[in-house]
Amino acid sequence: MRLVLVGPPGAGKGTQAQFIAEHVGVPKISTGDIFRANVSEGTELGTLAKQYMDRGALVPDDVTIEMVKARLAEPDVEPGFLLDGFPRTVPQAEVLEDHLRELGTKLDVVLELVVDDDEVIRRLSGRRTCRTCNRIWHVDFDPPAVEGVCDLDGGELYQRDDDKAETVAERLRVYAAETAPLVAHYAGRGVLVGIDAMGPVDDVTQRAVDALRPFQDR
Ligand code: AP5
Ligand code: MG
Repeated sequence: MRLVLVGPPGAGKGTQAQFIAEHVGVPKISTGDIFRANVSEGTELGTLAKQYMDRGALVPDDVTIEMVKARLAEPDVEPGFLLDGFPRTVPQAEVLEDHLRELGTKLDVVLELVVDDDEVIRRLSGRRTCRTCNRIWHVDFDPPAVEGVCDLDGGELYQRDDDKAETVAERLRVYAAETAPLVAHYAGRGVLVGIDAMGPVDDVTQRAVDALRPFQDR
């Protein structure tokens, strides 16, 4: 299955990607995670990406596309993949479509997580992420057993630099301007499925699994 998750910052893409990728049995590819790994490793790509991420802007399409194409060339994605955070602009979507066509394949489904803006602010202001395994937590909605420590591997939990209130506002603005048009783009191609992503994490996962079932059996 070749699947894309789309939705505003804080919609729960990363949270649901963890469970959906496991359920479907495909690797999860999060462009945000790849950029953040490059930032913490101090690579050239990380230094470039950080300048954009810190102000809530998108990293330029050419850089992002090249990075994703390299990831899609790895053998583990042959049976399928779940993309979290890519594509994020119509040009990125067009390049992905062309690239998959060259490989003789296409996207099966684009799952849109629908949430309201107030909920996004509540989710992002309390988010914590494990520095080693990237597991996503929330101080109120999904707290770890011990504050600041990942239940899975004991890693340190950190707050993302781009979760400051001003940067979140800019990310939401950029989403509306650059990424929301993708929803219509994919609806026009007949691959879009939207789910209500409000409410508890497990309920949203169940809705996602139900929405994806018809596409899994194709
Ligand atoms: P990226 O890392 O993709 O950030 P984003 O799209 O802004 O989305 P988030 O990761 O903030 O939110 P999410 O939907 O994953 O929510 P989460 O599951 O964590 O991108 C970061 C930056 O990288 C971009 O700004 C850009 O600069 C660059 N970039 C990345 N991809 C790019 C691309 N393709 N092109 C150009 N630039 C790119 O959940 C949030 C919180 O809510 C967590 O604490 C979680 O525990 C909690 N939560 C989740 N679900 C629920 C629920 N149901 N109920 C209660 N709490 C919940
Ligand atoms: Mg995310």
